Amino acid sequence: MSGGERQEDWWRNAVIYEIYPRSFRDSNGDGVGDIPGMTMQLPYLRELGVDAVWVTPWYASPMVDGGYDVSDFTAIAEAFGTLEDAVTFIDEAHRHSLRVIIDLVPNHTSTRHPWFQQALGAAPGAPERDRYWFRPGRGMEGELPPNNWRSVFGGPAWSRVTDAGGTDDEWYLHLFAPEQPDLNWTNDNVRSEFDEILRFWFDTGVDGFRIDVAHGITKNPELPDIESSAGRHESALDPLEVSGAAITARHPHWDRDESHGIFQRWRAIADSYPPAGQRIFVAEAWRLRPNGLSRYLVSDELHTAFNLDFLGLSWSVDDIRRRITDHLALVEMVGAPATWVLGSHDVPRVVTRLGHESHWAHRGLDPSGTGTDLQQGLRRARAAALLILALPGSCYIYQGDELGLPEVEDLPDDRLQDPMWTRTGHAVRGRDGCRVPLPWRPDAPGFGFTTGEPWLPIPASWASLSVSEQRAAPDSTLSLYRTAIQLRKQHLDATGAELRWTGIDTTPGAPDAPDVLIFERGTRFRCVLNLSSTAAIAIPSDYTPILSSVPLEDGLIAPDTSVWLTKE
Ligand code: GLC
Repeated sequence: MSGGERQEDWWRNAVIYEIYPRSFRDSNGDGVGDIPGMTMQLPYLRELGVDAVWVTPWYASPMVDGGYDVSDFTAIAEAFGTLEDAVTFIDEAHRHSLRVIIDLVPNHTSTRHPWFQQALGAAPGAPERDRYWFRPGRGMEGELPPNNWRSVFGGPAWSRVTDAGGTDDEWYLHLFAPEQPDLNWTNDNVRSEFDEILRFWFDTGVDGFRIDVAHGITKNPELPDIESSAGRHESALDPLEVSGAAITARHPHWDRDESHGIFQRWRAIADSYPPAGQRIFVAEAWRLRPNGLSRYLVSDELHTAFNLDFLGLSWSVDDIRRRITDHLALVEMVGAPATWVLGSHDVPRVVTRLGHESHWAHRGLDPSGTGTDLQQGLRRARAAALLILALPGSCYIYQGDELGLPEVEDLPDDRLQDPMWTRTGHAVRGRDGCRVPLPWRPDAPGFGFTTGEPWLPIPASWASLSVSEQRAAPDSTLSLYRTAIQLRKQHLDATGAELRWTGIDTTPGAPDAPDVLIFERGTRFRCVLNLSSTAAIAIPSDYTPILSSVPLEDGLIAPDTSVWLTKE
């Protein structure tokens, strides 16, 4: 990394900012964010204080699934810019002392990828088809899909192709949209071509990869039907359903042992780049067997994996504490750092999730927003931010969460682009509500995101949430994040991974003091989260508050508030 100092194992306690390029910053007025826009805003990220960015796919793509349908892994999407823009972004990010992680999408390509086009042009059984999962159909005329697997986006996981003469031909597998055919990782070509893709981007200077669908890349090559007991979630449309309970070692396409040889191969490539241990992987892995995550994090495989279980948190001491201790125990088994997330481009915004009494109102079933208390949601989201930033390990911040943006639940139907919307026959609205472009300035309609028309409309009510409005306001969510990241470096970076739970010791008359979560790190730092909805609690006399998610009232920690304390 040029310009910055070499930092051993920087990724063990880094704060990493997720950029969804389409919605971050548009530089050319076409209403779609782009790479030059990202480069323009590097000073913003520097000021926020993050250590690295993760950029979701910027590759050439027909954009059927927001860029997760890649037609060329070493070229840039036209809407986002050029390869030269990407190189400039990486270099400039490094100059701002920010590392760059990009998305690797190994489970599937776009149907427009030359590999798939070659497969379509080849006959059944030809080597070109072996890069994917082509199979004859079942039934008298091959009119039925080869097995009963379901697409994560709804409907069957198989589509049928026709040959050059228009006659029905084989079926191909797609665990996501039909435009995203699954790659066959038993194929040597696929393996070696991905080695080259990794090298291409490492040579270009990236510091790591986020592995998309790491839990799904290998399949049982027999492609057996899913038995109902093994496959409760195979068609789950709720990405927060991460329970391992239904996934067994026999599941034919989630969390299979064969994937680990591939991770080892990638790790060897990353490790071949000096200085040692600086290029890293972070896994997206949802549907795992119990303790599954630890298998991805052994020392010769992936460095880190999101704690996606944390996204489903309920606002209760027992639930939050369990999710923290479980993840810490898992990563400790293999000496990996914990990795915390409150949001992403795949799940409803944390402000809206925590604005519901139950942790999860299924996306799309409450489009009017009735039942969501956004004030409560924002207050809790701010408290949750201080919680995860105080925990040992690394943290990912999804763009806009630092502004306290809520989910946009009332996007007009004709603007929705997520394939979930069409694949479910309009039963599930999908993920567009968390992908609305960032408001940079309060000017309607482009909000400083674009001089044109944003690809998704930005709500007028976001004027007060815009960056320029929040930047100078000391109590804003943006200021809270900025201060927290700065204080974290000062007070926690040298503290190590240990965390000690402690009981409340100052509860004058508080009737529901059990609703308090307290932990300590090092000898002087303490984080207190008051989850009670009614009772304020006192600060222990031997501690001094250094940061509070909402201002302290009469020296008391109000309900739904986190406070960081230090001891002299
Ligand atoms: C991951 C991505 C998601 C995408 C899916 C298919 O879950 O985060 O956005 O739709 O993979 O690539």
